[in-house]
Amino acid sequence: MTRNLNLAVLISGRGSNLQALIDACAQDDFPARIAVVVSNRPGVEGLERAQRGGILTETLDHKSYPSREAFEEALHETLGKYPVDLICLAGFMRILTAGFVEKWPDRIVNIHPSLLPDYKGLDTHARAIADGRSEAGCTVHLVRPAVDDGPILVQRRVPILPGDTPGSLAVRVLEQEHIAYPQAIRLLAEK
Ligand code: GAR
Repeated sequence: MTRNLNLAVLISGRGSNLQALIDACAQDDFPARIAVVVSNRPGVEGLERAQRGGILTETLDHKSYPSREAFEEALHETLGKYPVDLICLAGFMRILTAGFVEKWPDRIVNIHPSLLPDYKGLDTHARAIADGRSEAGCTVHLVRPAVDDGPILVQRRVPILPGDTPGSLAVRVLEQEHIAYPQAIRLLAEK
């Protein structure tokens, strides 16, 4: 059975994965819609993308909260104003505490620019190249309290080519991210 999922997309910047989700949701047969986009940084490109797509936005600047927990409390409260089935982290560069993750069990997904469990954290492409790997990629996974951990929904691979830089590899991986995220949402909707 296919459900129609209401998504909250959390961003911190450029929002190209958000754009991929906006474009997927614009297709008649895609089983999701975006209820709200939340950014922890004011004025970012992703907010403009959402506004252009006619999607409601919220900005919660993490710097204006006294603690991570206070920020997350505000985030939880904000999300509660919308009919959210699934939280999609799309370039959201804040670590979520176990307290927050446990409030949304199996209802948070993340996209990460590596073939998890390899290269959790930052600078994934530079590390894969430095290690002489022949392959890189991206992973969409359910979020667990540990960072970049949790059941894998979709992985897409690209070769690492001679002469690749972190920048050139990032471009190739990003193309796959934009395919992987909608695939993962469809998978969850059809489960
Ligand atoms: C993407 O490459 C995403 O995988 C990565 O940040 C970029 C955001 O780009 N996320 C992480 O590194 C999270 N650990 P976008 O804002 O254009 O979607």
